[in-house]
Amino acid sequence: MAAQKVTVTVLSEMKAKGEKITELTAYDYPFARMVDESGIDIILVGDSLGNVIQGESSTLPVTMDQMIYHTRIVARGVKRAMVVGDMPFMSYQASTAEAVRNAGRFLKETAASAVKLEGGAAVAETIAAIAAAGIPVQAHIGLTPQSVHAMGGYKVQRQEERLLKDARIVQDAGAFSVVLEGIPAPIAKKITEKLSIPTIGIGAGVDCDGQVLVLHDMLGLNEGHVPKFVKKYGNLAGEARKCLEAYVKEVREKKFPGKEHSFGL
Ligand code: KIV
Repeated sequence: MAAQKVTVTVLSEMKAKGEKITELTAYDYPFARMVDESGIDIILVGDSLGNVIQGESSTLPVTMDQMIYHTRIVARGVKRAMVVGDMPFMSYQASTAEAVRNAGRFLKETAASAVKLEGGAAVAETIAAIAAAGIPVQAHIGLTPQSVHAMGGYKVQRQEERLLKDARIVQDAGAFSVVLEGIPAPIAKKITEKLSIPTIGIGAGVDCDGQVLVLHDMLGLNEGHVPKFVKKYGNLAGEARKCLEAYVKEVREKKFPGKEHSFGL
């Protein structure tokens, strides 16, 4: 693991050397610190916060101001990883000028050094304009949650030709990497072999250049439905529940606070 700050150059070199790239989401300062100190390469302040922080049923209600707030507090806890701010629904679709202005807010108002946005050929011009403004862009193709209604649900995307074309187009538009979400592993492998920029998979098999997961899913903090591609590395919700129930019990039984937590006794 390189000790240096992770930049687009570092990530490109990692792909060239065949070193796997690690990416996770974070939404607040304490977790951002822990994730960064784990040695992760990229921290994505994902609009998945709509689901795992706000309790919404999709990412669609998330606003630019909410993303700026979360990206600012995450970046404050990060020393080494690249921080990527996720562009929320309708922050980049209406016009290229608005997209560039909103992408710029992440770099101006937070310490993020890149943005992510969803889509393939349809957002090529937007990616090119943001990249031309000097803002690194992580693209995101395949299962794109902001298009849940257009896709008819959260479904694995299997149209190989379109996926290969989208991947090539976002690379040519200037993206520094691309998230491949919900894509059959053999297609993701083909895309990874054909692209010069790193591919980061989520539900896209082991052959991508790197992997990303939603933090609350992989820590077992999200007690709702999690997709098949999530591996739970722990059960933090279970641990939290144990602590909370112990506190409630001890207060009711007058066991807390004890002498050691009191003054003048
Ligand atoms: O919003 C998010 O967390 C994401 C990742 C799942 C890639 O887009």
